[in-house]
Amino acid sequence: MNSDNGQKFAIAIDGPAGAGKSTIARAVAKELGYIYVDTGAMYRAMALYLLRNGMQYDTAQSDPAAFESRAALLCRDADISIRYQDNEQIVLLAGENVNPYIRTGEVSAMASASSALSCIRERMVEIQKNLALQENVVMDGRDIGTVVLPNAQVKVFLTAGVKERARRRYLEDLEKYNREVSKAQETGAGVSLKKPDLEKIEEDIRIRDERDMNRQNSPLRQADDAVLVDSSDMSVDQVMETILNLVCVKKKRPQVITAKTAGFCFGVRNAIDTVYKQAEAKENGPINTFGPIIHNEIVVEDLRKKGVGVINTVEEIDAQEGGTIIIRSHGVSKALYERALGSRARVIDTTCTFVKRIHEIVQRESLAGKHIIIIGNHGHAEVEGTMGWAEGPVTVIESKDEALAFDAPKDVPLCVVAQTTFNERKFQELVATLKSRDYNCSVENTICNATHERQTEAGKIASLADVMIVIGSRSSSNTAKLYDICSEVCDRTVFLTGAEEPDLNLTGAEKIIGITAGASTPKNIIKEVQNHVRRTEF
Ligand code: F3S
Repeated sequence: MNSDNGQKFAIAIDGPAGAGKSTIARAVAKELGYIYVDTGAMYRAMALYLLRNGMQYDTAQSDPAAFESRAALLCRDADISIRYQDNEQIVLLAGENVNPYIRTGEVSAMASASSALSCIRERMVEIQKNLALQENVVMDGRDIGTVVLPNAQVKVFLTAGVKERARRRYLEDLEKYNREVSKAQETGAGVSLKKPDLEKIEEDIRIRDERDMNRQNSPLRQADDAVLVDSSDMSVDQVMETILNLVCVKKKRPQVITAKTAGFCFGVRNAIDTVYKQAEAKENGPINTFGPIIHNEIVVEDLRKKGVGVINTVEEIDAQEGGTIIIRSHGVSKALYERALGSRARVIDTTCTFVKRIHEIVQRESLAGKHIIIIGNHGHAEVEGTMGWAEGPVTVIESKDEALAFDAPKDVPLCVVAQTTFNERKFQELVATLKSRDYNCSVENTICNATHERQTEAGKIASLADVMIVIGSRSSSNTAKLYDICSEVCDRTVFLTGAEEPDLNLTGAEKIIGITAGASTPKNIIKEVQNHVRRTEF
């Protein structure tokens, strides 16, 4: 898409140091198939050019005026550009790939001295502008939207609080430091890096901000038409989505809004990580999960290839000779749990803490003489498991008809719990029905917070969306509930498993396409659907 001034599509991302500009710019460029212009690498290529033409870093100190006039003369003829080859960015100096030469100490020193000169900055701006005339680009820096690409179609000023930027830099440096320490322990080499100091990093960032905002030459400032994005509480994916949606608006395409809560919840994440760790550890004997670890055939198949099987019956538990049995996040009945503990296999229990809490309530309250009511889906693994912790009468109620037909002595108090992923509104409705029938109910709303937030967010996005996509397995009950919730407020709600090629019947008139996903939907499947939606032609 060309702009009126002949410029190709350009995205300018400016902001202070440590805001994550280059990570985001790279990711956005990759997503859109644009050229990410690594301006830092271009300044290094210029420094290499100056060195190759006989300039010396020392002159910058001993005779700054001579250094500047020589640089001004030479830089006019510098031919610097950028190209992508096998997904790698190549910086070209007069057509030569100079990537191997621009990271040396000598080039760094020259780049630092020469990039401060206005003649060099002006020449680089000229080269970068030229690049943007020939390619769709994403550029990041401090003066891209104000000086280099004032006509960029999308301008973003990406920032984050000083403390947050310091924290990110600290974690990055700590990781590098720890890597070097482990390497040193293995090889006996010395450790050259210093252990990072959070307070010092924070102080350095404050000083750098001050300097960047007040320098004479191209100071850091937000362009009047730039959109401010504060990434302090945002993930990389969320920042990406924000920027990609700005591009969509410019290109008159629908925006894609993905629920923050889409995909694995903490309980599922924990269970899956545990299984993958076991598969990697390759301890002796078979590894089996009791029931599929999640309602997702792709993940289950991937685990199968890594040697993790699925068992479904008590007989299979008894028959397992050693190895490991993993209890999934849904949990199992008390009898089954004890049977597994008594087997010849080692048992790893990944029952989610929220589900365990329900087991405790059910056991305690039934021992206290209450009739347990589980509001949930008949036959669902979590519900079946929970029933098995009751020490007395237990009934599953799924619908209003069942709540109306429920019949038990009125002098026996009821304890009502919910399946963790049950529809919140429906749960309240069924509790109200039981209460209206004069049952003495104590109610524990055990719908887990992750589910509550996922359902609330899905409903909100669906109410704004022209098309709402719900991704998950056909056998996942929490995904089915998300679909129900979204369908109530968005007529064009579509259920996708992620394995099929989605046919969304987009007309081009849609403004917002919403996406959410069940608790067992892997991130890569959500990403594939997002990409598909963004690339769909009308
Ligand atoms: Fe646990 Fe809630 Fe997930 S119960 S498994 S965190 S949906």
